[in-house]
Amino acid sequence: MKGIILAGGKGTRLYPNTISVSKQLLPIYDKPLIYYPLSVLLLAGIRDILLISTPTDIPNYQKLLGDGEKLGIHISYKIQDHPRGLADAFVLGADFIGNDSVCLVLGDNVFYGKDLTALLTKAMHQAEAYGAAVFGFLVKDPTAFGVVEFDKQHKVISIEEKPEHPKSNYAVPGLYFYNNDVVAIAKDVKPSPRGEIEITSINNYYLQQGRLQVTLMGRGISWLDTGTPKGMHKAGDFVKMVQEMQGFYISCIEEIAWHRGFISTKQLQKLGENLRMTEYGQYILSLVEGKS
Ligand code: G1P
Repeated sequence: MKGIILAGGKGTRLYPNTISVSKQLLPIYDKPLIYYPLSVLLLAGIRDILLISTPTDIPNYQKLLGDGEKLGIHISYKIQDHPRGLADAFVLGADFIGNDSVCLVLGDNVFYGKDLTALLTKAMHQAEAYGAAVFGFLVKDPTAFGVVEFDKQHKVISIEEKPEHPKSNYAVPGLYFYNNDVVAIAKDVKPSPRGEIEITSINNYYLQQGRLQVTLMGRGISWLDTGTPKGMHKAGDFVKMVQEMQGFYISCIEEIAWHRGFISTKQLQKLGENLRMTEYGQYILSLVEGKS
């Protein structure tokens, strides 16, 4: 399975923070926001990744992540000159995806929890077996999201994009798994009233064919909002608190690459040494020494 991170957009809800810098390069406490969705792909064992962003931001991502070799993965880049909607990721990424299945994660979505890896593995298998796998997450106000509608037997009957009157409190987070049909489906999606080709249209297409699996993320998983300054601040506080209390870092991409066997202990040590002036780097070095 291949992975796509969509990190485009103008981030206007975070202005003036994002006038000159891409939102996904801003910090969530001690690391750039993009590390969090990237770590989700790494946890899923995905090593071939396409990062889609604007022409001005791509050089900054390249500076940060390069071609991925340091993490034992491969990262390529694709320009999105205009934000046309999430489904555009599969149109822009068609050559990259080739004949493979694909996971799309939005560059501003942060997930954390002990069952995460198991959920990801299950979703990968579901997408390959049925066609598509997405999640539902209970939120107080779902109006800014794709929202799942269930019938009385808890069967999913539709997904609505940003409904004024949501039919449930289950939002669909920005993490989607599809088989290869998604490329053809995305090419046929018509723009919504807000002028975007919506990922929700793709999900409804699979749903109508009885090929969409929706798994509810339970209490063990946190999905953090980074859409506003308050959300970003809270997410940063959360990461700081968990890391300080548990001693384990959230979304340390070097650690995950090492755990998954993508890089050796020697390579991990080198990455830690390059960052030894920070607590983040010291954490990596403590892994090498077997102290974490
Ligand atoms: C997008 C999707 C929406 C999803 C959300 C998750 O919204 O359109 O269905 O629930 O991401 O972050 P947008 O970021 O375009 O507002």
